[in-house]
Amino acid sequence: MEKTNYLILGSGVAGLTFALKMATRFPDRKITIITKGDEDESNTKYAQGGVAVVTSEITDSYQDHIEDTLIAGAGLCDLSVVEMVIKNGPKRLQELISWGANFDKNKTGNFDLGMEGGHSASRVLHHKDQTGFEIEQKILKQVHRQENIELLPHHFALDLLVENNRCYGAKVIHIVSKKTTIFQADFTILATGGIGNTYQHSSNPSIATGDGIAMAFRAGATILDMEFIQFHPTVFYEKESKNKFLISEAVRGFGAHLKNKRGERFLLKIDSRGELASRDIVSQAINMELKKSGEPCVFLDCTHLDMDKFKKHFPTIVQTCIAKGVNPARAWIPVVPAQHYLCGGVDVDTNGQTSIQHLYACGEVSRTGLHGANRLASNSLLEALVYADNIFKHLASCDLKENKLPISLENKNNPDFIPMTNAHQIQLQDLKTELQALMSSSVGIVRNDADLKIAQNRMTEWKSILENTTQKHLLNWKMVEILNQIEVGLLIVEHSLKRKENCGGFMKLNY
Ligand code: FAD
Ligand code: SIN
Repeated sequence: MEKTNYLILGSGVAGLTFALKMATRFPDRKITIITKGDEDESNTKYAQGGVAVVTSEITDSYQDHIEDTLIAGAGLCDLSVVEMVIKNGPKRLQELISWGANFDKNKTGNFDLGMEGGHSASRVLHHKDQTGFEIEQKILKQVHRQENIELLPHHFALDLLVENNRCYGAKVIHIVSKKTTIFQADFTILATGGIGNTYQHSSNPSIATGDGIAMAFRAGATILDMEFIQFHPTVFYEKESKNKFLISEAVRGFGAHLKNKRGERFLLKIDSRGELASRDIVSQAINMELKKSGEPCVFLDCTHLDMDKFKKHFPTIVQTCIAKGVNPARAWIPVVPAQHYLCGGVDVDTNGQTSIQHLYACGEVSRTGLHGANRLASNSLLEALVYADNIFKHLASCDLKENKLPISLENKNNPDFIPMTNAHQIQLQDLKTELQALMSSSVGIVRNDADLKIAQNRMTEWKSILENTTQKHLLNWKMVEILNQIEVGLLIVEHSLKRKENCGGFMKLNY
């Protein structure tokens, strides 16, 4: 058994920021970060558009950012949370800059602020189209300087150790050696990110399988708003690939036009903001357009834009499109909507505390009340930064006493996992593919109760088969990951069945 003061599951912006702050303030305390892939693999790393922060009260205002967030959230945001997060933006931004993160500036030396859908002002700070990469690398660099932080890549958290509604740490497997270890922690912070890989087409990398939500659910934590899946309107359309390449909303903010095959800017008929309507509206409009036309994709037309400036702001997007055979200077970029973000998750208060004692959640895994029924673009990096700070401040004021693991939980430590045969691995991969296809076809942008119920039955069946297999000790972390994805799928379906009115990113026909 390993003992630590703070066990952090996940090394994206949420987990790393909390770790860094705690380690700096308390050099005598031990902080352990467990992460399932390479140390930087995360949704954070791929963030393009940037961080929405009010940096000038002349050209912008807190009130405007608050209102934009509330409008995007379709009436379901928690006003006090929205105000708290947005007013904390400038301080968190300064902190990021003090850790070395660079944000683009214009010729006059001011921040070059990007525009995105749903925003009434340009307020998105960015590092070209690689904002997440810049943030992830700069925080990681600081984390490596802290001797009291242990960062363990390729370690997969299997389950939380919870008894009588109190968390004592987590059970973890080292993916390479297959050795399982119990980490006893005074406090555990879930920072495991999103769920994108539960769907067939997502902008998320393959690590995004909703493990934290499934673990918290199994432990009895309150999970809310799972029906509010955000579909990004514009990922590069390719027939085959699964993890889709994102074409940032900032491209539309820069002036690109969304067109159907006939060259019509169909969004103008639906919302006067056109391409800059919030992304729930744009995704639903594209979905309708594709159903109507029978075409596989719509297009982003950038050909009328200042290409020198465009290439400077969006070098990765330009290079990737060219590599995929489309030069945005001359041709329209084929795009479709894809799963992008989860607005719901593990319910937390403003200290990031879940309904389980000694268990906190931060970042995309959490449901804070900021996003309501649809997240405003570029508000999630901000949310993670603000809540990492809130959790840090709250825990900094809590006494540290050994949170001793009850013997009953110690004994629950399963034997090391048994390797799977090739046949099992193929079966699991097939199941994952089936699950992803089912989620995309029956739990997508537009849902209906009949399909949701069919999906629920199939997933319940898969869950029970897998659970029976795991009881026979044919265990493997990949099996746990798929079980987690099924659990997340079931939660999305259950919450979708319960919601009786359409709002924000949630649309259901034929109740
Ligand atoms: P992540 O960054 O996803 O980190 C999760 C971590 O948990 C990873 O290290 C993962 O390996 C680890 N993990 C997961 N499960 C386990 C497990 N079982 N055991 C151990 N470790 C585990 N938001 C914005 O605000 N602005 C943007 O411009 C923007 N652009 C985006 C572009 C793309 C392509 C994507 C995918 C997202 C974008 N987002 C953007 C959303 C934003 O990036 C994420 O919501 C945010 O980075 C989430 O941070 P996080 O720390 O909560 O999770
Ligand atoms: C984007 O760049 O379009 C993504 C922004 C976000 O998800 O907030």
